[in-house]
Amino acid sequence: MSEKRKRSWAEPYKIKMVEPVRMTTPDERKQAIEEAGYNTFLLRSRDVYIDLLTDSGTSAMSDRQWAGLMMGDESYAGSDNFYHLEETVRGYYGYKHLVPTHQGRAAEHIISKIMIKKGDIIPGNMYFTTTKVHQELAGGTFADIIIDEAHDPENEHPFKANVDLNKLEDLIKKYGAERIPYVSIATTVNMAGGQPISLENLKAVRKITNKHGIKIIHDMTRVAENAYFIKEREPGYAEMSVKDIVKEICSLTDGATMSAKKDALVNIGGFLAINDDEVFDKARNMVVIYEGLHTYGGMAGRDMEALAIGIKESVEFDHIRARVGQVLYLGNKLLEMGIPIVKPIGSHGVFLDAKKILPHLKQDELPAQSLAAAIYLDSGVRAMERGVVSAGREPKTGKHNYPKLELVRLTIPRRVYTQAHMDVVAESVEAVHRSSSDVTGLKFVYEPTYLRFFQSRFEPV
Ligand code: F0G
Repeated sequence: MSEKRKRSWAEPYKIKMVEPVRMTTPDERKQAIEEAGYNTFLLRSRDVYIDLLTDSGTSAMSDRQWAGLMMGDESYAGSDNFYHLEETVRGYYGYKHLVPTHQGRAAEHIISKIMIKKGDIIPGNMYFTTTKVHQELAGGTFADIIIDEAHDPENEHPFKANVDLNKLEDLIKKYGAERIPYVSIATTVNMAGGQPISLENLKAVRKITNKHGIKIIHDMTRVAENAYFIKEREPGYAEMSVKDIVKEICSLTDGATMSAKKDALVNIGGFLAINDDEVFDKARNMVVIYEGLHTYGGMAGRDMEALAIGIKESVEFDHIRARVGQVLYLGNKLLEMGIPIVKPIGSHGVFLDAKKILPHLKQDELPAQSLAAAIYLDSGVRAMERGVVSAGREPKTGKHNYPKLELVRLTIPRRVYTQAHMDVVAESVEAVHRSSSDVTGLKFVYEPTYLRFFQSRFEPV
């Protein structure tokens, strides 16, 4: 008789090298956050204990990837590592052409410049900061077509990144297909809290866009995490591998921009991948102006090698289950503590609902920015604002955009922190939540023109 025994999931690796982290005193943290203008982006990392600012470029590479660095072919032209990367992108994602770039926003820059003309509309399943800026700089206007559920942190829709097909059809009717160069589809939508799109929905978007001759450009930054959720949640995909689901997602789109600093487990790198020969030809030419020759595009040969290996590791089931599993662990712990977070728990981080945690602050008093500063002051845990500061200003009127979601993101780097680190993070958030009425709001004292969340400075109101 077989006996069923409980086995917890655990990280599918053991630790070979460690990097000490530094704990600080409350006084040191007070000084550090004041000097940083209450912006966690302006803190020095030496003053941070557990760094959950971002999952971008912060992953731990595997021993295979480190070995790959030694295989770097630093030839200016025609590096072996480029061909390995090209073969990997074709094999794992199925796109025909590869243009390497130093990171994701460089690919966004190039595709926006090539495909968008003045007055164009670019529908997308919620905006991302850098993507939208490049669309606007190219003369276009972003239009949000994500389902309404995505704007409600309490709504437990399993695929909150889905496109509202009526919103898409209405835009096409209103502006005409000629003014819509492509639909921008992100897999696991960052600003919605790391929420996935379903294959069923993506297929429906493909059907509509095909009917009107509109392309789909895929922001594939976290595609493996999206594929994992499809396997777990979407009927009919439980038996399909994450690797195959990733390829199916890509097959429904015409090209992609990739920030390889996330899913693909490298500290720097990205690419544009595209099926259309003409667009590729333009992109390959343009990359030479902005990034570097088309066989390196701003990356060292060794970085392309680490990326090719990282792509293969990113779709391994044990890896992706443990990666998302760690995020779920932290999220569930916070839920048990009664902390308001975005539900369902996302793939790359836990998003705290700052409006609910700090109900005494008006959105003009920057609740999420204030909460991120308060968590840092409590424990040295560094989080990031994803609310009115990140949303920026409306280009025409110059007024703040007021997003419905006012969030603080606790972003989990891949393969870096342990379960005990997650426990400390949860304890700190709970402590701030308990004394939340003591948290005061912030106001801008300096604001740069673009992507203001990175460099703005604040002081308490
Ligand atoms: N698209 C998405 C969905 C992203 O999350 C990012 C970066 C980019 C594009 C731009 O890529 O940074 O390589 O130029 N997100 C980081 C973050 C910055 O912290 O969420 P990049």
